[in-house]
Amino acid sequence: MVDLAPFVAPRPAEYAPIPKPLKRRDLRGRSIPSGPRNPLLTLQFQKDTPGFLRSARDRYGDCVSFYLGGQLFIGAFSPEMVNEVTVSKQHQFIKGVGFDRMRKVLGTGLLTNEEPIHLRHRRLMQSPFHISKISSYADTMLALTRKHISTWRDGDVVALGPEMMALTFDIVADILFGTDISADTTKVQRAMHIAIDRIERTMLPGLDRFDHLNIPYFRKFGSAANELHEVATRIVNERITQGIKRDDLMGVLLEATTPDGEKLSAREVSDETLTLILSGHETTANVLTWVFSYLSENPKYWSELAKEADLVLSKSGEETFAKDLLAAPLTSAIFNEVMRLCPPVWVAPRRALEDLTLGGVAIPKGAHVLVSQYVTHRDERYFVEPDTFKPERWFGDFEKSLPRGAYFPFGAGTRKCLGDQFALLEGRIIILEIARRMSLTLTSAFPQPQPRATYRPKGAVPMRVSLI
Ligand code: HEM
Repeated sequence: MVDLAPFVAPRPAEYAPIPKPLKRRDLRGRSIPSGPRNPLLTLQFQKDTPGFLRSARDRYGDCVSFYLGGQLFIGAFSPEMVNEVTVSKQHQFIKGVGFDRMRKVLGTGLLTNEEPIHLRHRRLMQSPFHISKISSYADTMLALTRKHISTWRDGDVVALGPEMMALTFDIVADILFGTDISADTTKVQRAMHIAIDRIERTMLPGLDRFDHLNIPYFRKFGSAANELHEVATRIVNERITQGIKRDDLMGVLLEATTPDGEKLSAREVSDETLTLILSGHETTANVLTWVFSYLSENPKYWSELAKEADLVLSKSGEETFAKDLLAAPLTSAIFNEVMRLCPPVWVAPRRALEDLTLGGVAIPKGAHVLVSQYVTHRDERYFVEPDTFKPERWFGDFEKSLPRGAYFPFGAGTRKCLGDQFALLEGRIIILEIARRMSLTLTSAFPQPQPRATYRPKGAVPMRVSLI
């Protein structure tokens, strides 16, 4: 078989076939949930998708329907429905709109893969992301954070958005490839930026039809995907042909075997590597930029955080370091609250493979189904004053008191984020190391959201550094 680059590779034949989209005429005589039907709907959806979904829920309830590009979409917002889509009925869905386009960059990496290939890879990749292994990355995360912020001087104004993006990129790249990527860092970062920007600018179905057009917007998407594929393939092939063995994450992926001796091919390692870089830096960088924006608005937390930092970071190098970091109460509460209000993955699109029910409501085969962290995390039945930043709500057993599916920043089920512990650890380290040395203050208004494939803050988010 010719090993085509992801951008032009066909959808793997092992995946379940994509069901036919449902048009209005297919649904005559069938009962579907109510929802907005106005002629400006597509425009409203495009302009502010999270806001559109939230107001649809407020008006029509936990299960709503609407048409985009003439195709039926269902929004499923109650915790019960979220749990059904992501866990108890997950096998009745495949990933939905946007993911075919993402596959052009990430090939058959975990994020975009479908069964049966997905579970095979997931089993192979689980162990390097187990908390026992993640802990060994804590010292690298701390060292890179220190190096990165050591150039910030008192009174400097730093572009926090790009700074957090560069730092989380360096961390994931170092842990994945060690020094192998140094020469290509700028190229990879630039190509990643273009790919992320263009993967899911819109959730309108059918955008991938235009990817072959000779229009700069689409052409650049193609070249970014190909550049990333070339760099990752080259590094993997060099390791294999030169017999280089390293104990970084790529080394672990190259060696990983199932109990019956199965391994990932070079091409699969390359796709997984790109998947880990892409999913492993922008998400965490966004949360951190939002965290420091909220701290700037709520400066009372800085001194408490600095105390927590002194206590926890002094244990660096000790065996319990990662555990202590993950348990740091105020940092954890702030991180949780920011992932509630600004979930980096704010919507998870799926396609129903068969007729089924969600929360007792009939959903037809072929429907696009959207669960949304943004909407469900702001449900006033579970979160009092849902739009207010209140880290204290997370103290004690609050998270345990929530029904399943009410809070799911990392998703759930077999498609749950592989890097959740990695992100939690990295996030804690960066917040605490910054709080130990300084406070940061926004020099302009609180950032506006710019929801793309992730829930980004708009612009560079400039902040003034005040060293302690
Ligand atoms: C705060 C940071 C992060 C958040 C909020 C987050 C969130 C998510 C969510 C919601 C999913 C599921 C998407 C879906 O159901 O369609 C996901 C999947 C994934 N994430 Fe993360 N993520 C974060 C950081 C990371 C990091 C640091 C890594 C790796 C180093 C990572 C690797 C992955 C992978 C590989 C998947 C696909 C898992 C699978 O389908 O088996 N993520 N992430």
